[in-house]
Amino acid sequence: MGNVTVIGAQWGDEGKGKIVDWLASRADVVVRFQGGHNAGHTLVVGDQTYKLSLLPSGIVRGTPSVIGNGVVLDPWALKAEIERIAAQGVEVTPDVLMIADNCPLILPIHRDLDALREDASGAGKIGTTRRGIGPAYEDKVGRRAIRVCDLAKLDDVAPLLDRLCAHHDALRAGFNEPPIDRERLLSDLREIAGFVLPYARPVWRDLDQALQQGRKMLFEGAQGVLLDVDHGTYPFVTSSNTVAGTTGSGAGMGPRAAGFVLGIVKAYTTRVGSGPFPTEQENEVGQRLGERGHEFGTVTGRSRRCGWFDAVLVRQAAAVSGVTGIALTKLDVLDGFETIRICTGYRLDGEIIDYLPAHAADQARVEPVYEEIEGWPGSTQGARSWAELPARAIKYVRRIEELIRCPVALVSTSPQRDDTILVRDPFAG
Ligand code: GDP
Ligand code: IMO
Ligand code: MG
Repeated sequence: MGNVTVIGAQWGDEGKGKIVDWLASRADVVVRFQGGHNAGHTLVVGDQTYKLSLLPSGIVRGTPSVIGNGVVLDPWALKAEIERIAAQGVEVTPDVLMIADNCPLILPIHRDLDALREDASGAGKIGTTRRGIGPAYEDKVGRRAIRVCDLAKLDDVAPLLDRLCAHHDALRAGFNEPPIDRERLLSDLREIAGFVLPYARPVWRDLDQALQQGRKMLFEGAQGVLLDVDHGTYPFVTSSNTVAGTTGSGAGMGPRAAGFVLGIVKAYTTRVGSGPFPTEQENEVGQRLGERGHEFGTVTGRSRRCGWFDAVLVRQAAAVSGVTGIALTKLDVLDGFETIRICTGYRLDGEIIDYLPAHAADQARVEPVYEEIEGWPGSTQGARSWAELPARAIKYVRRIEELIRCPVALVSTSPQRDDTILVRDPFAG
């Protein structure tokens, strides 16, 4: 079919933004289908660095971009991001950005609730991005959401606001917070509506038409499979399905639209926020990975936890998400390590298992079983062909393919757009 779906195959921040930006030159349209501005993608093009959260990563190239109904949209964050990127010379007009009119909104009350809950959770907190993502998805499923299309009919929004406010006021009372200031919320919505509405459309129709015309679509996932609300390290997850199967429901298309599923995989492992992390290295190895990889969150600035590559997790992520091939990123960060470890299984209660158990307590208890391989002399940084890679770096890549049972389609060797090795073109199927 020629479509490509990009998803993170670990805990997010695998380098999806860089790969989507690179692939966008071959795509006719880029579509976000879940998540919100909890995502943070850094794109480096020459001496310019772009930071995107909500806007699809094809926007920098001017590729037509769609925010699908599966996203939760903070309209004020959208405006700020569009203004920020305009200051860098990227014009985001309704000709290049289309927003699903059935997309639910993140409101200030969602951000409040996210923070109140995190602050009240002490050691048990999830470590969310505090952007209101979870509460907004709860209201969508609870049938209390205000959606983009409501912005065009704010005179009729009172019954919806009644439902929404009754629910939130009860929750807020539990935190000793005052009830929602409805007048203020409504006036804020009236003010932002004029900004958002020109972008709002029944985007499923545009996508359906694009499909009929054989246009190439690039679906851009946010977060990663291990943060998926069903398949991730629950409850330390985000509130959406991040697997490739979400493309259809989150964009308004059928399940076959996903096409080639490209799992983005970092050559080691990182995680932001709380939760189990079997191969985490709270030592000089972790510190070295963090420093070499500049592992600081784009959204919150928090340092990312770092550890060795976990083949068990990536194999599982590839299976539950139907990954066709992977893009292996940040290989250059491993340059200079004398030995490199790969986790190939877990020890749990004296037995070796080859998957991550569902229970958080077991996930926290598993002990990684490692295989050690020799590092490589020289540098992979900036390599744009296999021929430029040291033989032992190629061996590492091949071993990963074998362990995760998935072929490599792309290798990334620096943050720069063009420092990318194409092994197999995902758009060629
Ligand atoms: P995303 O959330 O998956 O889009 O990833 P982020 O942008 O949050 O984090 C990935 C970081 O690694 C960004 O700062 C990228 O510029 C950077 N990056 C991407 N690919 C590579 C690579 O191959 N090598 C290095 N050294 N950095 C990379
Ligand atoms: P990108 O698209 C890494 C994590 C948060 C927290 C958990 C829940 O840049 O890969 P949320 O605010 O979603 O309710 O937080 O999910 N998280 C991410 N971690 N990359 C992301 O996005 C993330 N988006 C959310 O740190 O642990
Ligand atoms: Mg990120």
